[in-house]
Amino acid sequence: MSEHSANPSAAAAGRPRAVKAVIPAAGLATRFLPATKAVPKELLPVVDRPVLQYIVEEAAQAGIGDILLITGRGKTSMVDHFDRRPDLEERLAEKPDLLAAVKRTEELAAIYTCRQPEQLGLGHAVGYAESHVGDEPFAVLLGDEFVKPSEPLLPAMLELQARTGGVVLAFFEVDPAETKRYGIASVEPAEAELTDIGEVVKVTGMVEKPTPEEAPSNLAVLGRYVLPGRIFDAIRRTQPGSGGEIQLTDAMELLRTEGTPVHAIVYRGTRYDTGMPLGYLQTVVQIAAEREDLGSEFRKWLAEFVNSDASGGRDT
Ligand code: G1P
Repeated sequence: MSEHSANPSAAAAGRPRAVKAVIPAAGLATRFLPATKAVPKELLPVVDRPVLQYIVEEAAQAGIGDILLITGRGKTSMVDHFDRRPDLEERLAEKPDLLAAVKRTEELAAIYTCRQPEQLGLGHAVGYAESHVGDEPFAVLLGDEFVKPSEPLLPAMLELQARTGGVVLAFFEVDPAETKRYGIASVEPAEAELTDIGEVVKVTGMVEKPTPEEAPSNLAVLGRYVLPGRIFDAIRRTQPGSGGEIQLTDAMELLRTEGTPVHAIVYRGTRYDTGMPLGYLQTVVQIAAEREDLGSEFRKWLAEFVNSDASGGRDT
């Protein structure tokens, strides 16, 4: 359930607020091979929940109850995770905590799926959502990153999109040497009437994975978007870009040059990036350390381990 009520100015403008989300999750996850040969990277566990569940929970927490998963070959187990399991539920009748944890996965949101038959880029994947979302604005949540639930980002993005009717992004600051991994934007101050929502900026240009020399700033696109329905037409008109792929960044930049307003919220909360082994490990450790049930024991062990010979800690 959203903690944010409807925004009067958006209502006055008659603009709908996004109520659906799309999670592109068809990728091959070559960075995690061979673990991801048979298991989708979105199902790698962070403590006792798969990454994808944290992402669906983030959407649900923002009031989004309709989620389209864009899947690919060999990845249908992602959908099973959110399906009912009456046989398992029956066996867990005497274990209420586990039963509740299993049922929770079924009740978070209505999950729909569609297939991206070949992986031609993020823009190409999002294009497959057109018949599900139609003309309405919708959120996109990338399947390998999520934010800390106590520092939410999506509610403010949904609010901002309802007010502007345009494209809404989120940025985080990166080391200038790392621009080649992200979409990077140039910005200017946002209109005064939008700044009550948060640290809002107006985007004046976007480029996908620039070298540090080409990068217009160190503001990187975070894997959360709220997009108007006209993005689909822009995707159709977008040629392959960085890496030979049809990039969502390029489609959004096309809309911007044609007059669609593009704004972003600069996110200064905690972002977990599970897309690469190091970020995945950092995510597992941080979330485990904060868990109420096992955090204190884990932190104690971790501190001892880091200071022990076994960790190599004394050599560095
Ligand atoms: C994608 C986007 C990129 C964005 C990044 C965030 O890249 O294309 O603009 O900055 O996600 O994680 P990918 O990680 O799919 O290469």
